[in-house]
Amino acid sequence: MEITYRFSCEDVTTRELEELFAAAGLGGRVGDKIRRAFLNSQLVCLAYEGTRLIGASRAITDGEYHGLIYDVAVHPEFQAHGIGRRMMEELLERLPVWRVMLVAGEQVQGFYRTLGFERYPDAMARLESSYLYDAPAGAS
Ligand SMILES: CC(C)(COP(=O)(O)OP(=O)(O)OC[C@H]1O[C@@H](n2cnc3c(N)ncnc32)[C@H](O)[C@@H]1OP(=O)(O)O)[C@@H](O)C(=O)NCCC(=O)NCCS
Repeated sequence: MEITYRFSCEDVTTRELEELFAAAGLGGRVGDKIRRAFLNSQLVCLAYEGTRLIGASRAITDGEYHGLIYDVAVHPEFQAHGIGRRMMEELLERLPVWRVMLVAGEQVQGFYRTLGFERYPDAMARLESSYLYDAPAGAS
C-alpha cells in the first residue's frame, strides 16, 4: 500500500470529502461548505492511495501563538496504518506556535495523546447551529 500526501486541496471535490467524512463517521459535513472550509484553511494534509482520497486534515493559525486542527479523518479501510499520525505530524511540523488546540471525542482522545495532546480544562466554545449548513438553494 503506497500512500502519498498532498498539502494543497485545490483539486479535491466536495463529493470526495463528503464520502470520506461519511465513511469515517463524521457525516455532518455535507455540501460544498466542507470543500470551502478546506480551501480557506492555511494548512491541509490530504492522504491518497493512488488517486483515491483516503485521509484528510486541516489547520488554521495566526502563525505565532495559536493553531487549531480540524477534520482529521482516515477512511476505515485504511485506519491503524499510521496515516492519521503522519497527517498530524505533517500539520504540527508546519505549526510552529505555542498552543495547538483541537476538539476530540472520548473515543479518539487516545490517538491525540500519542501525539502529545492533553485535556485542556480552560477551553470554552459558543455554537451557532444556523451556520452549520449552507442555506438551501433559492432561500434568501
Ligand atoms: C482517529 C483517526 C484519525 C486515527 O487515524 P489512524 O490512521 O487510524 O491512526 P494511526 O494508525 O495513525 O494511529 C496512531 C497512533 O494512535 C493510536 N490510535 C489510533 N486511534 C486510536 C483511538 N481511537 N484511541 C486510542 N489510540 C488510537 C494508534 O494505536 C497509534 O499508536 P502508536 O503510534 O503508539 O502505534 C481515525 O481512526 C479516524 O479517522 N477516526 C474516525 C474519525 C474521527 O473520529 N476523527 C477524529 C475527529 S476529532
